[in-house]
Amino acid sequence: MSDKLIVGNWKMNGGLAANQDLLHAVMAGLSGASCSVAVCAPALYLPQLQQLAAQSALRWGAQDVSAHEQGAFTGELSAAMLREFGVRYAIVGHSERRQYHGETDTVVATKAQRALAAGITPIVCVGETLAEREAGHTEEVVKRQLAAVIHTNGHCISEIVVAYEPVWAIGTGKTASPEQAQQVHALLRAQLKAATAQAQRIALLYGGSMNAADAASLLAQTDIDGGLIGGASLKAADFLSIVAAASH
Ligand code: 13P
Repeated sequence: MSDKLIVGNWKMNGGLAANQDLLHAVMAGLSGASCSVAVCAPALYLPQLQQLAAQSALRWGAQDVSAHEQGAFTGELSAAMLREFGVRYAIVGHSERRQYHGETDTVVATKAQRALAAGITPIVCVGETLAEREAGHTEEVVKRQLAAVIHTNGHCISEIVVAYEPVWAIGTGKTASPEQAQQVHALLRAQLKAATAQAQRIALLYGGSMNAADAASLLAQTDIDGGLIGGASLKAADFLSIVAAASH
């Protein structure tokens, strides 16, 4: 990967007025950026992004997508609907959705498939809990999560983005060390290489308390191609510092 990819995940934060301020500040700061930048907003605000960011370098995405194509699935949003609002990315399998919405590896793999079929790049999240890490199961967990997506998506796997988000690092201020993150990214890269000749062009993002201070050392690792940023994506200055670190 040459160009880094920095993606903000706003989670369930924001509002029309606050989004407008944040987006204007972020877009104004993107002129010197030499990396790709996107924000994944609550779905209700995707039309706002489409309106405000269409003429800018900023891309946008959704935080989830239905595993179904269409029909009687109350409350869900299909990949085709998201696509109508210019959505470029959809996060799938975020640990918060696995934890609070019972999403299984199979559901996550199908969501990735629906996104790809609609021309949306799925950002597939994998990551172990603290208990799993302490029990020595990190490798087994992340490989199992990614294997399901590879199995369901076959050769299309080269079109996905993968985000390694150790659950213990999300929203805790406990960023993984560059060595810890690189170790897992190398495992994921090897797994992707076994599945596709295009593995080198698949962006592997790190996510979990990434901030302005530690972004550069994480992004310097061989297999870290970018970041998926939660809390720090809600403040333009913090987000833009990470973008700057990715632009070197
Ligand atoms: P934080 O950056 O707030 O730890 O969140 C990371 C994350 O979950 C991004 O998807």
